[in-house]
Amino acid sequence: MKFTLNIWRQANRKAKGQLETHTVDGISGDMSFLEMIDILNENLAHEGKEAIAFDHDCREGICGSCSMMINGQAHGPERGATSCQLHMRSFPDGANITVEPWRAGAFPVIKDLVVDRSAFDRIIQSGGFVGVNTGGTVDGNALPVPKQMQERAMDAAECIGCGACVAACPNASAMLFVSAKVGHLGSMPQGQAERKSRVKNMVATQDREGFGHCTNIGECEAACPKTISHEYIVQLNRDYVVSAVTSIVQG
Ligand code: SF4
Ligand code: FES
Repeated sequence: MKFTLNIWRQANRKAKGQLETHTVDGISGDMSFLEMIDILNENLAHEGKEAIAFDHDCREGICGSCSMMINGQAHGPERGATSCQLHMRSFPDGANITVEPWRAGAFPVIKDLVVDRSAFDRIIQSGGFVGVNTGGTVDGNALPVPKQMQERAMDAAECIGCGACVAACPNASAMLFVSAKVGHLGSMPQGQAERKSRVKNMVATQDREGFGHCTNIGECEAACPKTISHEYIVQLNRDYVVSAVTSIVQG
């Protein structure tokens, strides 16, 4: 297969970027999108040109680092898949493909397709710890967790922190990400002690980091490679109101 790629090039955070056009040939439909960029980078290296910078690690949909907009869609056209899980057979032979970094003020471009997603780390850090009783090893059956509760927490824990929800949202809101993190711990009995302070702190950090507000557009859920449900945003809003009211009542 042969493709024409319009790829965003930007030397650094402050530089003005632009789209650069390249052609790649001899691509197998079974190759992943990242493997196709690897081939392009090998070609660029042979021509003595600088390779395209892009983030990647696991290449199996786990780490969340392969963030890129492909033809205007976060992680490309395949529903429930990251860019590294996207196969070239998803595109017609001879297609023109535009590849850009995430576009959000809170995710500044570092170089080419690589953005700084450390704002997510700071949101997670602000969620704080989970209080546990230390001492002797607790019997595994001492704290039974109902299956429904456990499944809800596990579904939220699937969030890989990729940032596609922010990139897809016209407001660049991080609500789906924050709600997945809040919903993960808030659904388990072990996460109840800090539940109110956690939601308050994480939402405050989200605002401080410059993410936009959620206006229930729903693009986040559609773009999420782990199909995290916007139901977690509903839960977050409920927890946030409870937390705010409790603060007022307690003075
Ligand atoms: S909620 Fe989905 S899109 Fe957002 S960071 Fe988590 S996995 Fe990525
Ligand atoms: S490289 Fe890890 S999710 Fe794509």
